[in-house]
Amino acid sequence: MCLETVFIYGAYEERSSCLKKKRILSGIQPSGNLHIGNYFGMMKPMIDLQMHNDLFCFLPNYHALTSQNDGLSLRQNTLNAAADFLALGLNSNKSIFWVQSDLPEVTELTWVLNNVTNVGMLERATSYKDKINRGIQANHGLFSYPVLMTADILLFGAEIVPVGKDQKQHIEITRDIATKFNAIYGKTFVIPKPLISNSTGLIPGTDGQKMSKSYGNTIEIFSEKDSLVKKVMGIITDNTPPDKPKETEKNNLFKIYSLFLDDAGKSDLMARFHSPGLKYVDIKKELIDVIWDFFELYRDRRKNIFSDDEVVIKILKKGAEKARSIAEPYIDSVRKKTGLEYC
Ligand code: TRP
Repeated sequence: MCLETVFIYGAYEERSSCLKKKRILSGIQPSGNLHIGNYFGMMKPMIDLQMHNDLFCFLPNYHALTSQNDGLSLRQNTLNAAADFLALGLNSNKSIFWVQSDLPEVTELTWVLNNVTNVGMLERATSYKDKINRGIQANHGLFSYPVLMTADILLFGAEIVPVGKDQKQHIEITRDIATKFNAIYGKTFVIPKPLISNSTGLIPGTDGQKMSKSYGNTIEIFSEKDSLVKKVMGIITDNTPPDKPKETEKNNLFKIYSLFLDDAGKSDLMARFHSPGLKYVDIKKELIDVIWDFFELYRDRRKNIFSDDEVVIKILKKGAEKARSIAEPYIDSVRKKTGLEYC
């Protein structure tokens, strides 16, 4: 049997290497400096998946408009996120990597799909409701977010979409819309499946809530050393005195440190937490070095190769070209079937 161990979105599993390659697609919003929650939750799994699959990875900057209205910073965030991803190992020769707005076809498809999308279904989207409850203005972009996401996925015939738990409902919406379109116009789109990460959502920030830019509890991947020191020293811990054993299950510091360890390393760390005498401050100092060293090679690549915008832009434009060659037959077929193409 041809079994191999592969890293499938958050966990290692045995898989038959005889299985056919899958078309896998996902995107990450370019919103500010990327953090270790983004890395372990989405970027690393995607980078690992490119080994045995056809990987489609893009930066959804149209989606980012639902939360950012400063043009200069969106532009910079987009270039930074691209540079980060490339430095961390996304291989633009092997995979297709592009910026969403380089293929405006996706907004055309969104409009078409709007017409087979049930409003009630969008009203039930928990991500939308959460945002409204947090006081974000209910504009139409926010409401229509899952339809644009649907277009992202269907335009490339993606079979598998790795997402965090919070995005699962959006993939259900995608499946609903694709099924409806196929029923009306004939089989056109692949019905995709979500690949739900075990780790996303479980990666705690410095305060123990999910690591997220909107909670201000992130540890950046490529920060300066002094900023890293500040963040790690600021990790909130319980007040178990040093001479008592520490619990690990709900321990933020333990969980963040574990991200950087293999199973044996984790067992060692757990044993240290369980023995009296451990001081959190010592562990934090150690963790600073661990994180710094872990990203060292990537930091060099980020600085020496991808800090040049022109280099990054060239790669993205090439990626957009490749993406377009996949999208074209889909959008052509939609134009024909819907009657938009009239001559
Ligand atoms: N909504 C996703 C997120 O914030 C990003 C995204 C946009 C996406 N379009 C997508 C993810 C298509 C997967 C597939 O995490």
